[in-house]
Amino acid sequence: MSKRYISGKRVICTGASSGIGAALSRQLVAQGAHVLMVARREERLKEVKDSVQGVTGQAFVHVADITDAASRQSIADFVSNEWGGAVDVLINNAGVGSIEVFSESDEATLRHVMEVNFFAAMELSRLLLPNLERGTQAVICNVGSVLGHVAVPHKSEYVASKFALHGMTDALRIELACDGIDVTLVSPSTTGSEFFTSVLNGAEASDSKRRGMRPDDVARKIIAGIIKGKREIILSTGGKLLVLADRILPGLLSRIQMRREEKRRE
Ligand SMILES: NC(=O)c1ccc[n+]([C@@H]2O[C@H](COP(=O)([O-])OP(=O)(O)OC[C@H]3O[C@@H](n4cnc5c(N)ncnc54)[C@H](OP(=O)(O)O)[C@@H]3O)[C@@H](O)[C@H]2O)c1
Repeated sequence: MSKRYISGKRVICTGASSGIGAALSRQLVAQGAHVLMVARREERLKEVKDSVQGVTGQAFVHVADITDAASRQSIADFVSNEWGGAVDVLINNAGVGSIEVFSESDEATLRHVMEVNFFAAMELSRLLLPNLERGTQAVICNVGSVLGHVAVPHKSEYVASKFALHGMTDALRIELACDGIDVTLVSPSTTGSEFFTSVLNGAEASDSKRRGMRPDDVARKIIAGIIKGKREIILSTGGKLLVLADRILPGLLSRIQMRREEKRRE
């Protein structure tokens, strides 16, 4: 993968109304990129746009539910009408969590998590392939999770969606190389965003913004990865160690987690 510059790049960032996506959008615009900020909450997108006015890049607010095919088409229409049909960077960042014991969750939750985190991201990527082919040093950046490498209990739906995203990212990286499109996977660990207040089942809602990395730090690392043309980055040392432990000693990690689960049920 090749090194790239941010200034002047045409970037689409989904999930730009809060957390990592908002931080990414602010930093990219500050570095001179033109960023189409996509999410459902218009007011929050406008707040992000207002917070970056006056710098060299440009922020565009685009209200869309990425699970809706017509909304995804409206993103492609913007690219055709405003950017001459070319996109340089697509960041599939929008995501939703779910925290629940599998037996007590339901089909609607599983389908919703997969829709947002996996199907919508992949279908938006497919739709924009011709536009990315017309872009300069084009890259699709998929925001996964350490839980797309290592499975944990009570987040099985989320884990499944991020493992799916991981697998498809690896396959597409090979497939799209011939078309001049890089595909990168970034895997944050726990990040102090609104993520935990908007989880579908809400068991950990009270943990919300207190924990983990700062969205600004996560965004800085993601942009550094895009600039360097990294194929994959795991953003925290703890995350790297967990992924390594899972590769080297998968049985041990499972047994530790099973023991914890037994204690939880006592
Ligand atoms: N926070 C963490 O601990 C953590 C850890 C690892 C990975 N991640 C990943 O990082 C990414 C960003 O999460 P975050 O921490 O920044 O959480 P966040 O603050 O809750 O942001 C999630 C974003 O996704 C958008 N979104 C959700 N459903 C959408 C839909 N149907 N259509 C369009 N946009 C939608 C939300 O905007 P609207 O509600 O306005 O639509 C929001 O902007 C996610 O993919 C998440 O899985 C987070």
